[in-house]
Amino acid sequence: MSFRVVNPEDGFTSDVITDPHRFVGRADLIQESVDALNSSLGLIAIYGKRGVGKSSLTRQIQALANGNYNLVHKAGLNHILHKKLRKYYTVYYACDSMIDDAHDLISRLCNDTNEEDGLLRLVPDNGKQLTEFSRSTESSGGLDLKVASWGAKGQEASKYTSAVPGDIVQTFRNFTSAVVESNNRCFSKRDSVLILLDEFDVIKNKQGLGSLIKSLSSDKVKFGICGIGQDLSSLIADHASVGRLIEQGSIFVKPMSENETTEIFRVAEEFFGGQVKFDGDVVKQIAVLSEGYPYFAQLIGKSCVSNANIKGTNYIDQAVLDLV
Ligand SMILES: Nc1ncnc2c1ncn2[C@@H]1O[C@H](COP(=O)(O)OP(=O)(O)OP(=O)(O)O)[C@@H](O)[C@H]1O
Ligand SMILES: [Mg+2]
Repeated sequence: MSFRVVNPEDGFTSDVITDPHRFVGRADLIQESVDALNSSLGLIAIYGKRGVGKSSLTRQIQALANGNYNLVHKAGLNHILHKKLRKYYTVYYACDSMIDDAHDLISRLCNDTNEEDGLLRLVPDNGKQLTEFSRSTESSGGLDLKVASWGAKGQEASKYTSAVPGDIVQTFRNFTSAVVESNNRCFSKRDSVLILLDEFDVIKNKQGLGSLIKSLSSDKVKFGICGIGQDLSSLIADHASVGRLIEQGSIFVKPMSENETTEIFRVAEEFFGGQVKFDGDVVKQIAVLSEGYPYFAQLIGKSCVSNANIKGTNYIDQAVLDLV
């Protein structure tokens, strides 16, 4: 094949991976994720070192929760699809260091209008539907304040939930309790809503986060938290309070094996449409150099392709790697 300048970004990315076709390896973590999604109760916690691939895995969990099983096929895990798997409406939110505490976090979630990932997109009329307040009789604990929308016959046609001024936690409860029922009327039936919180480690004051998540979790609401940490306690200060919730959903993302890192380059070659070839030895060296961090593998790969572009070749050999 004759030389062509290629865009390094076609094959490599420094972004979080949402596309299952780009996501390499991690069969064990995929299995753990499917198991965690299938338990009706419980919190999912994804943790590991910086740049090891936590956010990408979290995005894949989102796809699995939505019923996209490409990843499972790709990992050769078809056998785990035999039983019926739980499906979710999903929310994905990346935290930032301006979030002070649990209240702040819930408030952010209740106001997130992101069209692909935000909670509000799943709430009927963005939570603004205002008809008539009623104390619902099936009230349990804090779940009694609902806004009912009355149909022509004077009976409730549909029940909506709405924002409660000054009480963000109750607002959140109302929003999430509306999600499954109301969306199932329009879409395929799903069991629950999954709220994925990335960069969870940057929240300043983590006091009470665990117990709040526990109190908000139910058969219809599941949380997944993701962040940097060597163990669970670095992610959740009051982790004792989520003790039993976490039994099944603790997912530690370790550095990749050399085989998995190697696979990144095979996938990249595919995405370059066969225009770019990596020498086998070069790939092996990069796999060793990157020490299991896909972040470095992607970075070095990208840099190799840029350098090869300048050199006027699409074959990445030792000479190109030496330039990098
Ligand atoms: N399974 C994978 N296959 C291929 N590349 C991956 C995989 N997982 C992660 N990467 C790549 O590694 C880099 C880091 O990924 P990601 O952002 O998911 O890691 P992270 O652990 O969330 O990082 P941070 O600690 O900075 O939040 C990105 O360039 C991403 O494209
Ligand atoms: Mg991340």
